[in-house]
Amino acid sequence: MTTAIETAMAAAAKPLAPAAADRRLERLIAGSSWSQDALIELLHRVQPLYGYLPASALHRVAQELALPLSQVYGVASFYHLFHLSPPSAQRCGVCLGTACYVRGAAALVERLERRLGVGLDQPLGHHGWTLISLGCLGACGQGPLVCLNHRLVGFDSDNAPAALEARLDALGFPSPRPQAPAAP
Ligand code: FES
Repeated sequence: MTTAIETAMAAAAKPLAPAAADRRLERLIAGSSWSQDALIELLHRVQPLYGYLPASALHRVAQELALPLSQVYGVASFYHLFHLSPPSAQRCGVCLGTACYVRGAAALVERLERRLGVGLDQPLGHHGWTLISLGCLGACGQGPLVCLNHRLVGFDSDNAPAALEARLDALGFPSPRPQAPAAP
């Protein structure tokens, strides 16, 4: 059974070369036994091959599962864990599971939004980062937990603001943008 950590790491995994991804796609479709009920699971497995769900893959899945393309697009665009455009160069996922939340994930998100210039689960930020929310990664004692590109990083729950900023600097996050002066 796939664990939450494996799921998060798969989401952050490096995509394959296009030809290799296409070959794996065919194998995954065959492995699904062409079952229409397997659509979500299939899309979940296809996405890491390309880093997102390209139109060509959605067409292929619709064709092979004998489903209307509109239905496949509908599912792919409904769930926020699916992405229909290529990923940014830098991805940061923040666990918003209960344990991480009570250990300070919300404050961490606030600081990351300022640094990355992007809201949680919004399109690309000004430094080419995306910031996404994740469910429990199964390592609650290390929370609040972040999946930074391809690795998991835990933060101290009682980090003072200055220590937290220093840690974010050390991890290579861009500096916070200066806030606009308040209107007179
Ligand atoms: S709640 Fe974040 S790892 Fe479990």
